[in-house]
Amino acid sequence: MATSEKQLEELALKQYGEKSVYSRGLENVIIKYTALTFIDGNKGILKYRGIPIEEIASKGTYEELIYLFLYGKLPNREELNKLKDTLNSNYEVPKEVLDAIYMMPKDSDPIALLELSTAVLAGLEKDFKWSKDTDKQRAIEIIPKMAAMVANVYRHKEGKSPKIPSPSDSYARSFLEACFDRKVTDEEANVMDKALVLYADHEVPASTTAGLVVVSTLSDMYSGIVGALAALKGPLHGGAAEAAFRQFLEIGSPDRVEEWFNEKIIKGKNRLMGFGHRVYKVYDPRAKIFKSLAESLTQKNPDARKYYEIAKKLEELGINQFGSKGIYPNTDFYSGIVYYALGFPVYMYTALFALSRTLGWLAHFIEYVDEQHRLIRPRAVYVGPENASWIPMDQRS
Ligand code: CMC
Repeated sequence: MATSEKQLEELALKQYGEKSVYSRGLENVIIKYTALTFIDGNKGILKYRGIPIEEIASKGTYEELIYLFLYGKLPNREELNKLKDTLNSNYEVPKEVLDAIYMMPKDSDPIALLELSTAVLAGLEKDFKWSKDTDKQRAIEIIPKMAAMVANVYRHKEGKSPKIPSPSDSYARSFLEACFDRKVTDEEANVMDKALVLYADHEVPASTTAGLVVVSTLSDMYSGIVGALAALKGPLHGGAAEAAFRQFLEIGSPDRVEEWFNEKIIKGKNRLMGFGHRVYKVYDPRAKIFKSLAESLTQKNPDARKYYEIAKKLEELGINQFGSKGIYPNTDFYSGIVYYALGFPVYMYTALFALSRTLGWLAHFIEYVDEQHRLIRPRAVYVGPENASWIPMDQRS
């Protein structure tokens, strides 16, 4: 059987002609155009609609970003207020959605619970049709439902009763207060808002691509989100923040970092989670911002500070070992410390990523379906037997 990359390339050429491209993992394949997010992986540049991520993270809010992504410009005050009103009036989810979450065992995977509850919304939605006139408004109505679902996934797992986020001055605050049953401080709301901004979009990673495949069939927005969630869950993608933090937990104290690194990463040849990226070959710009958020947020929190100190030491060893191969901290390396300092358990980290990324998913779905739609249907190189025939049951070995 042909297995080497070279053989597969030759077979692809033979089977599909010169126009065909064989690319394992779709590396270097361009599947759409976008005016949403720009990444220069060699220089460590990330921009949302041309604005550097550093500027957005220091000056912008998630609500402004929702408008920016969907409408292509920053909202004026009136437009922002209208958008906030829409968010605030759409946190409610049907009873069936909450029932779906709360009927499941408490130890269910949070992303599986989100897939389930999002699929319930897809099931309840009648006659969804893509339309340039309504898609953006529809996305703004869907985003707060995600906050309600993520909050209730957390509440269920913590043994709390169902609760819908209440309207407030910020999406981040409404979400946090629905989770924690208390007023949150401005600092907490602000940090959550920054985390939402930093994870909002990243062009076409596995989750966005999976969702694009779904909506390219003209399936509905919720089904696209279910597809994206399923791809986000894995440890090579959204699951990495949780995996990275679990390393810090396993290490336990800053003086054990070196020993752990030698044992697990050098001798054990395990991947250092929260390190490496398909696109970035330098330090992920989001990781820098998460690092500084983690640094300031943990100053008065000795427990969280310990994990920050561990991460910093681990980062140093990781860069020494892998930096020359272009493997540096990615966004998931420090984000878990920020979530931890906010009070979230480790199992929630991927769900918090999903909460934020729903915006990027929807913006890409709309950009693709409304402007450049084509069914996504790649090919595979056939490497099986050329001629075979059906063997009757009693003659099979
Ligand atoms: N630790 C150790 N070695 C690594 C790592 C790592 N974190 N990442 C890549 N490598 C090595 C890998 O072993 C391989 O080495 P060799 O050429 O000697 O076999 C080489 O680098 C190329 O790896 P690859 O898996 O072919 O490259 P990729 O472009 O598919 O990798 C990645 C991207 C994210 C899957 C990978 O870096 C990885 O597994 N990282 C750890 C998981 C992680 O942090 N994921 C979050 C990604 S960023 C946020 C997001 O998108 O969700």
